[in-house]
Amino acid sequence: MAEPVRILVLHGPNLNLLGRREPEIYGRTTLEEIDRRLAAQAAAFARVPVELACFQSNHEGVLIDRIQEAADWADGILVNPAALGHTSIALRDALAALGTPVVEVHLSNVYRREPFRHQSLVSAVALGLVAGFGADSYRLGLDALLNAVLAARG
Ligand code: DQA
Repeated sequence: MAEPVRILVLHGPNLNLLGRREPEIYGRTTLEEIDRRLAAQAAAFARVPVELACFQSNHEGVLIDRIQEAADWADGILVNPAALGHTSIALRDALAALGTPVVEVHLSNVYRREPFRHQSLVSAVALGLVAGFGADSYRLGLDALLNAVLAARG
């Protein structure tokens, strides 16, 4: 039996409002639905068992605590840092300290939006970034992260 891949999915501030928050930008899919789709995608992943833990918080410190708690568990992190990606050195440092592969996702294409969204402090510690595909950004990001974790295992 192959060793499972354990992925922590982190959602930052205001993403609990998905579905009713600025739907013209973020779509109508709720966070619960996104997590449900990710769980189904993980269950259907053929190469190895995948264990997912999904977590949302509006609080920077709570997200950082959750990242630190994942130190002995997570093989990878899929993160939509939301606005904290543009501002939080502390979140970036927590991800860097963990040392596991990180994939950053955004529902919207942040580079087509206001200039203050064009900087991500998380991107520099991420393997890559998926942005602009709505809820599908998470699906693409999880696929890329699983493949990267398995490639690193050899
Ligand atoms: C977001 C983009 C951020 O700029 C914004 O603050 C969010 C959501 C996205 O998924 O498109 O809260 O991360």
